[in-house]
Amino acid sequence: MKSSALAHPNIALIKYWGRSTNQPSYLNIPTNDSISMTKETIPNANSEIELITQTTIEFSESYNEDTGFLQTEGGDIQFNEVQMERIKKVVDALRASAKVDLKFKMISKNMFPTAAGLASSASAFAALATCASDALNLGLNKRELSMYARLGSGSASRSIHGGFVRWNKGDSHETSFAEQICECNEFNIAAIIALINRGKKEVSSDVGINYAHTSIFNPVKIKKSEEQAIEVLKAIREDDFRTVGSISEKNCLYMHSVMMTSDPPLFYWNPNTLKVIRQVVNTRRQFFQNHDLIKKGIQEKGKKGLECYFTVDAGPNIHCLCRNEDIEKTANMLCEIGISETDMVRVRPSVEGSRVVKEHLF
Ligand code: DP6
Repeated sequence: MKSSALAHPNIALIKYWGRSTNQPSYLNIPTNDSISMTKETIPNANSEIELITQTTIEFSESYNEDTGFLQTEGGDIQFNEVQMERIKKVVDALRASAKVDLKFKMISKNMFPTAAGLASSASAFAALATCASDALNLGLNKRELSMYARLGSGSASRSIHGGFVRWNKGDSHETSFAEQICECNEFNIAAIIALINRGKKEVSSDVGINYAHTSIFNPVKIKKSEEQAIEVLKAIREDDFRTVGSISEKNCLYMHSVMMTSDPPLFYWNPNTLKVIRQVVNTRRQFFQNHDLIKKGIQEKGKKGLECYFTVDAGPNIHCLCRNEDIEKTANMLCEIGISETDMVRVRPSVEGSRVVKEHLF
């Protein structure tokens, strides 16, 4: 009863930030639908980083207690009580479903430096749900896996799938699941993650999300996010980068408005995040001004500006969204404001979601 799985993190274009108060909070039923891109690093792109988490779990009579470890270059680090509680939320639900009461050992490993500011519970819980259900021989489909991954971390439900994904908020454990809305090659988009801070954030999403309802802007954000999720879904399917980019950017700002005005207020940006935001907005303005002049026949098609957008999750690091063919221009734009190559991670939508693999970590 041993299995291993891989999973990628995802970046939300329409964000999850708030749990429904009509359901027990441990179910992580969101207040609005969200949409994301499951992401992988672009191969050969001057980076050693691979955005993958690998997890192995084994259930056995020889274990007297449940244990979990994070494998790092410096050795295995045992998960603390709070982390184990979250892990057990997923595993207990799967054990109950399989009617198995054996204890487990699990080891998880990120294929990126742990202190890179890229740590993601989305890939971790997607990999965990996938290998644990396989080890227990549950034969779950992706939709069911996404429900179990959600119990560990809401955004993990989306990392079960590759490409572009919608998490339907639903109103119960069975109706709140993620599904693929578009394969990775159907929408031309790439991104550079600018690593502004590699450290751990002060307030985790899991905690910060509980304060969303205290912001007076939250009801507006929920209502708008519902509308935006429909618009973005359509635009992704139509390969309409402008609509996806501009709505994603707005949705990110709505989420941060809620964060900044909640009680206690949450400020995830730092001055460098804002520096990148200004650069993206200015570079895009140049692009559209140039575009207008070309249309009016005043200017030859030149290289001014770039069509790019930004989105930021619960931390200072920022994703600059662009078309695939503009990825190097986006890198140059970041370079102009002093972001170094080593602080850039080039990503694209991943073909695959979470999957079982044969290689075990122990
Ligand atoms: C801002 O509760 O899924 O990334 O702490 O990673 O488990 P973790 O976060 P989670 O909240 C994610 C919040 C978000 C937006 C999003 O991914 O939708």
